[in-house]
This record gives sequence, structure tokens and C-alpha cells, in this order.
Amino acid sequence: MTKHRSIAIDGPSGAGKSTLARALAKALGYLYVDTGAIYRTVGLQACRTGVDPEDRDGVVALLPGLDIRLGYGEDGVQRMFLNGEDVSQAIRQHEISRYASGVSALPEVRAFLLDRQRQLAAEHDVVMDGRDIGTVVLPQADVKIFLTAAPEARARRRWLELQQRGDETDYETVLRDVIDRDEKDTNRATAPLRQAEDAVLADTTQLDLEQSLDLLISIAKERLQA
Ligand code: DC
Repeated sequence: MTKHRSIAIDGPSGAGKSTLARALAKALGYLYVDTGAIYRTVGLQACRTGVDPEDRDGVVALLPGLDIRLGYGEDGVQRMFLNGEDVSQAIRQHEISRYASGVSALPEVRAFLLDRQRQLAAEHDVVMDGRDIGTVVLPQADVKIFLTAAPEARARRRWLELQQRGDETDYETVLRDVIDRDEKDTNRATAPLRQAEDAVLADTTQLDLEQSLDLLISIAKERLQA
């Protein structure tokens, strides 16, 4: 079996990870795997069944009943299926971010999703984005990038995205949520958000999307050739 190539992109929410990772995957002809969407799907189920994301026993009890699948549309966009239902839109609601952050702090949830993520990388060349891809999920990744930007820049981007979707959440609330999630994702005991020692730091605060993508492509190409 030939070994597949893998590119791990980690970083805080709103750094442009999904957009950039997807574009990078397209440029290289790799499969894009958005692992945040998988945690969001678990969070959605907690929300729908009235289970508080901090309620460890409650969330763990949901896991055996969860059939989570990834699919890819003709456009190459990843879609999430929860027990057969396409929940790709539903997981993007603003309140599901809080649920996803809560459930993702539980070691049982992370263990439940670990093999599934590794399996995808074993079967395809992937660009995988998340929080712990370079540190835990794919420590042997060929390329590791830690993508970040100042909290204000990330909150503004997220706010614009929500506005475009007709979500009227105000900027201050989005900024508070960004800071709050950074705090939770960085300080949790299991697989906290941190830069892998061998990851390249890419800060996009001052870069637009095109410049950020150019940066990632050049990092990836350089490391893949190394
Ligand atoms: O990237 P995102 O905002 O869609 O991620 C949703 C939540 O899932 C976020 O709070 C962090 C968590 N997450 C994680 O803990 N590990 C990952 N590999 C991906 C996401």
C-alpha cells in the first residue's frame, strides 16, 4: 500500500482554516477533511436532545446511538450526515459552536472520533483541519501548519460570515465567543489547542484570503519536497 500524504492544519476558530484548507486541498488534488464539522455534529445531537454539553454522562450516553458519516458533493464540498440526515447546514448555526466546544472537551468524544479521522488519512491524500491534527490525530503528517490571526480579525471575519447568512448576532457577542472558545479549546485537559513543535506558524491577521492561500501553498510545496 502506498503511503498517502497528509497536511495537518490546526489553529483557533475564525483563522480562515476551513476556507484555506479547502482551497489548499483543491490546489493539490487532496481530500479536504473538516474535523470541526464532526465535533459540531456531536454537538448538534446534544442540542437536539436537550443534553447540556457540560454534562459528561449525558453526552457519553449519546455516542452509541450516533451514526456520523462524511460525504462529498459533486462540488467536492464535505457534507455531514447524522443518522442518515444531511445536517451540513444545521451544524453551522451559531449556538452549535458552543455545543461543539463543550463536547469536544470530553476525552470519550475525542476517542470516539479518533480512528475515523485516522482512517480517512490512511485511505486518501488529505488536508485535515482542526485543533489537534498535528499533535494527536496525525503526528506523522508530512506538513503541519498552525494557522492563526488576532482575535479581533477572526471575530470580524466570523461576524461577516454570519451576516451573509442572515444571522444578526452582533460583533461584540461574536468577539466574546471567539475569546471564550479560544480559552476553552486551549485550556482543556484533553488534546488542547496548541502548535505542534514541528508546525510552521502562519499568521493571517494582515493577509487577505488570496495572500493567505499563497502562503499555505508555498509552505506545503516546500515541505512536501523536503
Ligand atoms: O473549527 P470549528 O469551529 O468548526 O470547530 C468546532 C469546535 O470543535 C471547536 O470549539 C473546537 C472543536 N474541535 C476540536 O476540539 N478538535 C478538532 N480537531 C476540531 C474541532
